[in-house]
Amino acid sequence: MPLLEVRNISKSFGGLKVIKGVSFNVDKGELIGIIGPNGAGKSTLFNLISGVYHPDAGSIIFKDEDITKMEPYDLVKKGLARSWQIVRPFRNLTVEENIRVAFYGVGFKDSLSERNRRLDEILQMTGLLQHREQLAKNLPLGHLKRLEVARAVATGAELLMLDEPFAGLRVDEIKGLMHLVTVLHSIGLTILIIEHVVRSLLELTRRVLVLHEGRLIKEGTPEEVRRDKMVIEAYLGEESEVA
Ligand SMILES: Nc1ncnc2c1ncn2[C@@H]1O[C@H](COP(=O)(O)OP(=O)(O)O)[C@@H](O)[C@H]1O
Ligand SMILES: [Mg+2]
Repeated sequence: MPLLEVRNISKSFGGLKVIKGVSFNVDKGELIGIIGPNGAGKSTLFNLISGVYHPDAGSIIFKDEDITKMEPYDLVKKGLARSWQIVRPFRNLTVEENIRVAFYGVGFKDSLSERNRRLDEILQMTGLLQHREQLAKNLPLGHLKRLEVARAVATGAELLMLDEPFAGLRVDEIKGLMHLVTVLHSIGLTILIIEHVVRSLLELTRRVLVLHEGRLIKEGTPEEVRRDKMVIEAYLGEESEVA
């Protein structure tokens, strides 16, 4: 049984059909890249899976349960978490407080000592231990992206969906965040990562889905995808190349 099944979903905004019959499965423990040119519908796909929007047609199954019409706060409690393309921390709370809010959001029932242990573990894992007292608004973007991931992990996520986590980061920050993704994957999280270009995914994943004008046009390894004629054509006219 797959962890997530996306079955033939579609979504329109006004007259504009943005997602057109998209289907795919995600097995537990997979790390999958989703790429596509700007406006392909990638963020909308995440919004549909995470309950921000509901599809007009089709269904979404998570852990054998139909979640098609569920709301984000229910889905988080079921183990489905996403980060945003534009980071959304509580700017006037510290790093530590931001993570604690994520615990409360899912009604973390363990004892205070267990919660503190988990907090330290997450701070350590995400490289934010030395920054726990800092206000989110004073963090550089690289750390904010880590905080986004930390908050998602704090909800107890089984499926983590990251929307362009590397966008806007310096090379060293990208490397650090990539390492974090690898660590999260190695401890058993299932991860979906949206990326604009396939290059960033080469070292991370063996499976990439390509979205173009609301349709999945290709699925394969990063190498197969970057050489595919349809994929290259989908990116033509864009400033940045597929590779
Ligand atoms: N809430 C919305 N209302 C109207 N149009 C939207 C909305 N969200 C996304 N769109 C449109 O859907 C298309 C796909 O957007 P998006 O999913 O953000 O693409 P991507 O993340 O691949 O760049 C775009 O044309 C965008 O303008
Ligand atoms: Mg997007």
